[in-house]
Amino acid sequence: MQEKNVITKIQVYSYTELTDDDKKLVDLAKEATQASYTPYSHFNVGTALRLENGAIIKGANQENAAFPAGICAERSACFNAGANYPDVAIETIAITAVQHGEVVEDPCSPCGVCRQALLEFETRSGRPMKVLLAGRDKVYCLQSVKDLLPLSFTEF
Ligand code: THU
Repeated sequence: MQEKNVITKIQVYSYTELTDDDKKLVDLAKEATQASYTPYSHFNVGTALRLENGAIIKGANQENAAFPAGICAERSACFNAGANYPDVAIETIAITAVQHGEVVEDPCSPCGVCRQALLEFETRSGRPMKVLLAGRDKVYCLQSVKDLLPLSFTEF
C-alpha cells in the first residue's frame, strides 16, 4: 500500500494587501451579490472575472422554485464569458458571499459542480486562472483551479 499526499497551496491575504486590480475585482464580486436572486436560501454569492483582454464580467446566483434549475454565481459568470468571449482566457476570478447583509466572515469556496466547470474553462484556455476567495477581510488566493479540484475528471 502506498499513500499519496495532495498538497494545495493557498496564499492568505488581508484585503489591504491585495493589488489594486485584485481589490477592484473583489469589490465587484461583492457588488455583484446585489443581483443575486435568492428567495430560498437568502445566501447571495457574487463573482467577478477579469479576462485576458481586460474585460470584466460579473455573476450572481440565480435560484428557482425547482431548485436544480438555479445556477451558482461562478457558473453564471463563466458561461457568460464563454458565450461572449469564447476565445479569451479568464485571468482571475473573485468570489464572495453576503448573508444577513454582511460579507461572510470566512472565504466562500465554490461548490464541486462549479469547480468542475471552472477547471474546464482553465484547461480550455491553456493558462492558469487565479482564484480569489474573499471573506470579510481574509482573501484566499489560489494560483490555479487545479488547486481547488485535485484528482479531477478531465478526459474520456
Ligand atoms: N452557491 C453559489 O452561487 N456558488 C457556490 O459555489 C455555492 C453555492 C449558491 C447556490 C444557492 O443559490 C446558494 O448559494 C445556497 O446554496
